[in-house]
Amino acid sequence: MALISDPFTLPCGAVLKNRLAKAAMTEGLADERNRATDRHVTLYRRWAEGGAGLLLTGNLQVDRRYLERGGNVVIDGPQDNEQLARLAAFAEAGRSNGAHVWVQMSHAGRQTPINIATEPVGPSAIPLALPGGRFGKPRALTDEDIRDVIRRFAFVAETSKQAGFSGVQIHSAHGYLLSEFLSPRVNLRDDIWGGALENRARLLLETVRAVRAKVGPDFPVSIKLNSADFQKGGFALEDCLQVVEMLNNEGVDLLEISGGTYEQPKLLGMAGIEPVEDPKVRASTKAREAYFIDYAIAVRAVAKMPLMVTGGFRSKAGMSEALSGDDVDVLGIGRPLCVDANFINRILDGEIEKAPDVESGLALGPWIFGPQSPIQMIKLINGFAKMGWYYEQLYRMADGLDADLKMSAFKAFLSYQTTEDKKAKALVSA
Ligand SMILES: Cc1cc2nc3c(=O)[nH]c(=O)nc-3n(C[C@H](O)[C@H](O)[C@H](O)COP(=O)(O)O)c2cc1C
Repeated sequence: MALISDPFTLPCGAVLKNRLAKAAMTEGLADERNRATDRHVTLYRRWAEGGAGLLLTGNLQVDRRYLERGGNVVIDGPQDNEQLARLAAFAEAGRSNGAHVWVQMSHAGRQTPINIATEPVGPSAIPLALPGGRFGKPRALTDEDIRDVIRRFAFVAETSKQAGFSGVQIHSAHGYLLSEFLSPRVNLRDDIWGGALENRARLLLETVRAVRAKVGPDFPVSIKLNSADFQKGGFALEDCLQVVEMLNNEGVDLLEISGGTYEQPKLLGMAGIEPVEDPKVRASTKAREAYFIDYAIAVRAVAKMPLMVTGGFRSKAGMSEALSGDDVDVLGIGRPLCVDANFINRILDGEIEKAPDVESGLALGPWIFGPQSPIQMIKLINGFAKMGWYYEQLYRMADGLDADLKMSAFKAFLSYQTTEDKKAKALVSA
């Protein structure tokens, strides 16, 4: 039975010093040319010193036209010396204290906000079913565009390796472009990139192959994949299991299991406006705090590669239990690391048994929305507000400050919105 402090050897031969990974969290810290900054260096040095075996960066974008937000780091053109030096400093900070630091590579697809692109792109011209006008109607990518996306992921992987990052992760979860292609509800194409699951998974498969070809056999390549989108007619657990079988012979070093999309934000343990479509799996006794452990157990039955599961871990007991029984190999931890960069050390050393509960105080009152607002809408807006609070804490940590647990959710939400719009407006194309 593995312990959270045990090292883990990946198929490529690289060794993680323990089983706890800092999950990918978008930092929003890039400059107006989408370059890494000193604030990345400060933040990742703190997280590396905080004890994680693996740090996944926030989603770094492969195409500056379709960002997840204005402050994303982008690698999408000839890298000048200045950009490479900044990436190298970021990588070096992440690798300090014996941690691995892997670049999470992503294309935001139709989830590109309207302040970045009025017309985002996707597999088909299906807009997000979200109120508020935050996302435009996407244009369907052409065959040539899709091949360009694959080349872009490969280029980012090659540049990341060159800059000193110790691995890469392909983001194919949470409703971003690669996950959109997998979804029969969002991908309505009738060419080789749509229709049957083999076709919907082609973009992911081709991307993995192109990335592996660039980085060679000894460099960790990971994928983040949804167990399900939890939406009617969306990517279902049965689809996920088949995609895992397709990936079995592709040399994947670590498959991270998550779930949900912007429309159905199960990745954060929240629900969207539509009813949640729950996959049927046998409930294990382990599911107490980990959102996706039962789905990861189902994936384990078909997967040949190591597994990571992310979402919900807050206590040492919950983490230890998830690792018992050999169902998963690595555990991803997100929000506790937005309020305490040293959380993993404290858990490993036995200084604390669990993360402090910061979320229950963060709901905005119903008075903000008006008494007639539907409850699902209130919950969703509260969810976005909570995210604003976490983003603001990351800014503080990147400035060398401690998180402010007393920060008001309302103020954080407003401040976050203003900063996002300012950053989007200030962008300069490289
Ligand atoms: C502030 C914040 C930013 C996030 N950014 C990303 C991201 O860039 N890429 C990603 O795959 N997931 C992202 N996530 C999701 C996390 O990786 C993780 O799946 C989720 O927070 C659940 O883990 P937790 O319960 O330990 O927080 C983000 C979550 C938070 C809270």
